[in-house]
Amino acid sequence: MKPAWYLTDASFDWLFPERIQQMSKRHWTPVGTAKSAAAFLASEEGGKILDIGSGVGKFTLIGAHYYPGSIFYGVEQRSELHHYALAAKEYTKTDNSAFIEGNFTQVNLADYDHFYFYNAFFENLDPGNSMDQQIDYSISLYRYYSRYLYRELDNRPAGTRLVTFHSLQDEVPSGYQLINASEDSLLKMWMKK
Ligand SMILES: C[S@@+](CC[C@H](N)C(=O)[O-])C[C@H]1O[C@@H](n2cnc3c(N)ncnc32)[C@H](O)[C@@H]1O
Repeated sequence: MKPAWYLTDASFDWLFPERIQQMSKRHWTPVGTAKSAAAFLASEEGGKILDIGSGVGKFTLIGAHYYPGSIFYGVEQRSELHHYALAAKEYTKTDNSAFIEGNFTQVNLADYDHFYFYNAFFENLDPGNSMDQQIDYSISLYRYYSRYLYRELDNRPAGTRLVTFHSLQDEVPSGYQLINASEDSLLKMWMKK
């Protein structure tokens, strides 16, 4: 019998077609990392947590499964990935999760309490390793998105939590204090002072 979908990377991947599974290692958060990030972000009952660039919903669904007292949202610009996230939410009956299709700049970040960010803008710096060639990439887009997110995070109230994974930290305002980090420093947990 296969392990439950939320237990391992392989069992989560099994929810998706093979082409999506092949992107998993490079593009989706590992289950253990998602659990650690969600534990930090799910700090209060009823908190709203947004994954900026949610892909097929791996962080969102894993977080929502392990922390049912919080509501996990994901915004994703690629329509196909958004579609797979919705299908996985239905299949896994993860009711405290929701997925929004679009660019994160179209979402009002003030509607959310805490944020997860797995270096969504990096594809603009390294288009050769991107998941597809369906959107335009540029260094100026990387700078625009990073500055936009920086400004938005800077405007959030004290106590706002942020988790970054593989980030160059261009989007992390100086008012955010590093609270914890993984041994390899790829996963960082921040809180606004
Ligand atoms: C590295 S993947 C992470 C996926 C997911 N957060 C996870 O941890 O499994 C980054 C995702 O961000 C999305 N993305 C990049 N720029 C975006 C933007 N400006 N608005 C919304 N999504 C974006 C990409 O399409 C990609 O699916």
